[in-house]
Amino acid sequence: MELTYYGHSCFSVTVAGKKLLFDPFITYNDLAKHIDKKSIEADFIFVSHGHEDHIADLFELAEQTQATVVSNWEICAWINKNGYAKTHPMNHGGSWYFDFGKVKCVNAVHSSGLPDGSYGGTAIGFVFTTEEGNFYYSGDTALTLDMQLVPLFASLQFAVLPIGDNFTMDASDAEKAAGFVQCNTVVGVHYDTFGYIKVDKEKAQKLFTSKGKSLLLPAIGETITV
Ligand code: NI
Ligand code: MN
Repeated sequence: MELTYYGHSCFSVTVAGKKLLFDPFITYNDLAKHIDKKSIEADFIFVSHGHEDHIADLFELAEQTQATVVSNWEICAWINKNGYAKTHPMNHGGSWYFDFGKVKCVNAVHSSGLPDGSYGGTAIGFVFTTEEGNFYYSGDTALTLDMQLVPLFASLQFAVLPIGDNFTMDASDAEKAAGFVQCNTVVGVHYDTFGYIKVDKEKAQKLFTSKGKSLLLPAIGETITV
């Protein structure tokens, strides 16, 4: 599968000819100024929770691409109320078969208030099962024992996990999370964007290597094969 990193927790995965975009946040990311939003394509946009740094560019990119937005019930209702109708609501524990494969909604330990103060439900992660391989995006989360359930749902090719600390797991907890989900290939996200989440990338990657795992940190705008 091909993964393009757009900075922070925004990335896209191409699977079965469909483009899945995650947590759109580009405009207010100083590190992503060179990204041309107009070039971004999406058939689906997955939103892990309601915080600004995961949805700031949601409406613009949804309108541009006419993608189906997949998130929890409350966030989908809020998106509908704010003028975009094409959503697919899910909630923890539920699965749905889309045309590219199966998505299962799993727990994330994080808050989820929307930018205007609306209730955003609770944060979620997603497990993708497809004919081209399986992957997990945890969303913003703490390390949690619930991650040990993921291998019961899918054998993962890669996992996308936050490593920035302060608001989420740090690299050390993300390495443990990789153990819980039984996946040695991790794409690190949610780091360096703000002062609170600056990381020592080399140190983080060495930590993973020392445990027989790899931490991939693509440059913003880079496409990698995972
Ligand atoms: Ni958050
Ligand atoms: Mn966040």
